[in-house]
Amino acid sequence: MIRPQPYTGPAPLNVNRRSDLNAAVDELLAGEALLVTDRYSTGLSLLTALRLRLSVEGNDYTRQRAYRHQYQEASKRILAAIRSQRLDLMKAPKIGWLEVMYADLPEFYLSLPQLQGLNSSWQWHLRGLKLPVLDRRLHPLHGTYFPTRHEHLHLLADWLERYDGARDRAVDVGTGCGVLALMLQAAGFSEIVATDINENALEGLEGDLSKPPRITNITLKKTYLIGPVGDRFDLVLFNPPWLPGETHSLLDQAIYYPDNLFDDFFAAAWRALRPGGRVVLLFSDLLKTTGVTSQHPIVRELKRRKRFEKVRLLERPVGSASKKTRRRKRTGTKEKVQLWELRRRGGGGA
Ligand SMILES: C[S@@+](CC[C@H](N)C(=O)[O-])C[C@H]1O[C@@H](n2cnc3c(N)ncnc32)[C@H](O)[C@@H]1O
Repeated sequence: MIRPQPYTGPAPLNVNRRSDLNAAVDELLAGEALLVTDRYSTGLSLLTALRLRLSVEGNDYTRQRAYRHQYQEASKRILAAIRSQRLDLMKAPKIGWLEVMYADLPEFYLSLPQLQGLNSSWQWHLRGLKLPVLDRRLHPLHGTYFPTRHEHLHLLADWLERYDGARDRAVDVGTGCGVLALMLQAAGFSEIVATDINENALEGLEGDLSKPPRITNITLKKTYLIGPVGDRFDLVLFNPPWLPGETHSLLDQAIYYPDNLFDDFFAAAWRALRPGGRVVLLFSDLLKTTGVTSQHPIVRELKRRKRFEKVRLLERPVGSASKKTRRRKRTGTKEKVQLWELRRRGGGGA
């Protein structure tokens, strides 16, 4: 399992609930690392003070991105000690991942954001995730993306009901917690390949597929996009990252895409599909509503190349994020999720 990396920088200064938080934020912004020495809540208060100092008003994407970067850089220097696989602070949550992932390390530091992420993913893993479109719970491992809003799942469910093509072979690219692969399985596809570059996602899904009733027709592959193809597919399904940007963590890889991702994806899908086979992409109009770029990668592919033709575009307005997660609500309220169905044009493929 991939684990968050322990802190390796210069020795930190101590901070506790009697420290001046404003001065502590100054120190953080000057590049110092701070070790919280008393309570977990001291670390949370320091995070709040940092957020208040840096936060920017409004939805301007570039300014929000700069804020996010500054906050991430400074907050990763707010540290806590882990001793004998326990968070060594009063009133700290018990995080099972510390025993599972760090059995080899007797003492080390993690940052507060790392600990918050570990705590939240541990709770979801223990409790299991119930999604409205599946009849089994999923137990994602740390660093695995899972949906907190369900509009795109409903769009796919609607589409699967209408779809009258072959249901022999499908690939779910970037499967995450596996929800879409399981929807394909429930919709009668005989053989499904589920890929991801995130090995924690695949390891968690493997555990879930082996629970009763055991599922044997979903094959997991750790690979970039589709990987080497044997028999061709009837359907290539992808819920890609929705925003361009750099990635610094496993979860970032679910949210931000590098420049070449869509070119690579369409080339791979064209090679992997039989002529007439379908690409289904779940996407959103976030690019437009955030103003981050005018280049819609799917529209661009359809305009520039003649590899695919559009069959239909289904859209659904987005509600708010689940109250149970801390994931940031996306900007704006007019966002719509999209399901793009494309047909592969003829020809043999490379
Ligand atoms: C938005 S999440 C979707 C997860 C899941 N399919 C769902 O709908 O909830 C995108 C997923 O794609 C994976 N991913 C990103 N880039 C990838 C690539 N080049 N090849 C394979 N998987 C990738 C991420 O790790 C993440 O699990």
